[in-house]
Amino acid sequence: MPVTFTLVSTAADRVEADLLAVPVFAPGELGPGAEAVDRAIGGGLVAFMEEADFEAKPGQTLAVPTNGGLGAKAAVLVGLGPRDELTVDSIRNAAAAISRRATKVKSVATTLLDAAPAELDKSAVAQAVSEGFELGGYQYLEFKSDAKPSKLERVIVVGRGGARVNAALERGRVISGAVIWARNAVNTPAAQKSPEAFAKSAQILLRGKGVKVEVLEGAELKKEKLGGVLGVGQGSENLPRLVKMTYAPAGARATVALVGKGVVFDSGGLSIKPASGMETMKTDMGGAAAVIGAMSALKDLGVKTKVVAFTPMVENMPSGTAIRPGDVLKIRNGKTVEVLNTDAEGRLILADGLSLAVEEEPDAIVDLATLTGACVVALGEKIAGLMTSHEGWGDQVHAAADRAGEQVWPLPLPAAYNKLIESEVADLKNIGTGGYGGALTAGLFLQAFVGDVPWVHLDIAGPARAAADDGVYVRGGTGFGVRTLVELLSTFKKPSANGSR
Ligand code: BES
Ligand code: MN
Ligand code: ZN
Repeated sequence: MPVTFTLVSTAADRVEADLLAVPVFAPGELGPGAEAVDRAIGGGLVAFMEEADFEAKPGQTLAVPTNGGLGAKAAVLVGLGPRDELTVDSIRNAAAAISRRATKVKSVATTLLDAAPAELDKSAVAQAVSEGFELGGYQYLEFKSDAKPSKLERVIVVGRGGARVNAALERGRVISGAVIWARNAVNTPAAQKSPEAFAKSAQILLRGKGVKVEVLEGAELKKEKLGGVLGVGQGSENLPRLVKMTYAPAGARATVALVGKGVVFDSGGLSIKPASGMETMKTDMGGAAAVIGAMSALKDLGVKTKVVAFTPMVENMPSGTAIRPGDVLKIRNGKTVEVLNTDAEGRLILADGLSLAVEEEPDAIVDLATLTGACVVALGEKIAGLMTSHEGWGDQVHAAADRAGEQVWPLPLPAAYNKLIESEVADLKNIGTGGYGGALTAGLFLQAFVGDVPWVHLDIAGPARAAADDGVYVRGGTGFGVRTLVELLSTFKKPSANGSR
């Protein structure tokens, strides 16, 4: 990794590679290139599949011994599920399954591209092929003393399509690079990603990517009145940062603002979490990682919209200097917040980030945050919650996520629940009375800082991390949100002025 992609129109039986991967539709219908494998083994492929209980379920693979009967040295079948259920996502997941099977070879050829029916957009399918290979084969080996990195260098895509398909393969490769950066950032232990180090890693990533990067620290955070960032950060030896990123292509006619939660470790602070709840809390900067990763791809993808991004970075720790339950913070936009639970810290730093975003007078805002356990209870580990102040903008983000193959689902922002976050002593409190509907009260809290700018909040607490390998996800950080953001920014349309669809 990373791999290179070459498009060839050679016949499947003659293409030279260490491995030829061909698709099969469930329950056992040969896909493109599979006849070549069938011929190579003298016509017994269907019987061989039955013998091996291979039913071509999505992601299922089966090695077929071909004894030199092909241009490729070996062959593997990959399941695509039923032909009439085939989507771009199935192609992406099948490419990921091949990638996992191909870590011991240098080159793999595949006929996957031609498995898609004509109704599916050829560019989207080609992009999914390169994303699947790059993301499914991802490994985080930084701290493994017996690391066996994947040997895969080259993917030969057998099929037709010319320049359009080549451009789409390259697009998938660029996007995957951004996703992998975000995965690495999430997988990095908190000890190696203090706010200072995390901010520095963003600066390094974005060099030469057409993005201006400004890092605020110490006295600058005070001067800018970033009371949420300072308050959450005050308990840690590792002092907070706020990274502002600006991508301003010539001739831009619209501006989108992004905000990402960058809690490099969430202990809960004085409202400390139980040990089990802390195990994965290095993931709590997944929103910031997705935003930074996405920023790194905009220039290479030729995005025409201006994008301004803010990622507050803090470590939430208990200590003699930590913020206490009952303390009141003043956020950038002047609103005051009573902090009743120091573990509801994400919304405090996002409040500053969103206030700054509004000041840019953007056409729309998206924030991404591993914000609430309640969202994971509601939607599980694979689906992000989508909350919005503007139906049309919500639909636009939802559609981009669907095209990108990331699952999101709408949750409401019920105005009637605003009373649950009213404070006795300040403008707002940072937890909802009663504790029910925690994803919604968190969303309502954020809404108090977005003014009337069309805004979408993605609660990625579930999908920022994968508990097991699944499709393009590899156990650990997923980089969730990067693909949605780049798809959204590549196709951005200004939301309507009246908040409707
Ligand atoms: N970072 C957590 C949310 C989280 C929980 C993300 C589980 C991923 C998995 C957030 O800062 C948090 O602690 N939220 C609290 C809010 C509560 C105190 C109102 C929660 O969800 O329990
Ligand atoms: Mn927390
Ligand atoms: Zn948190």
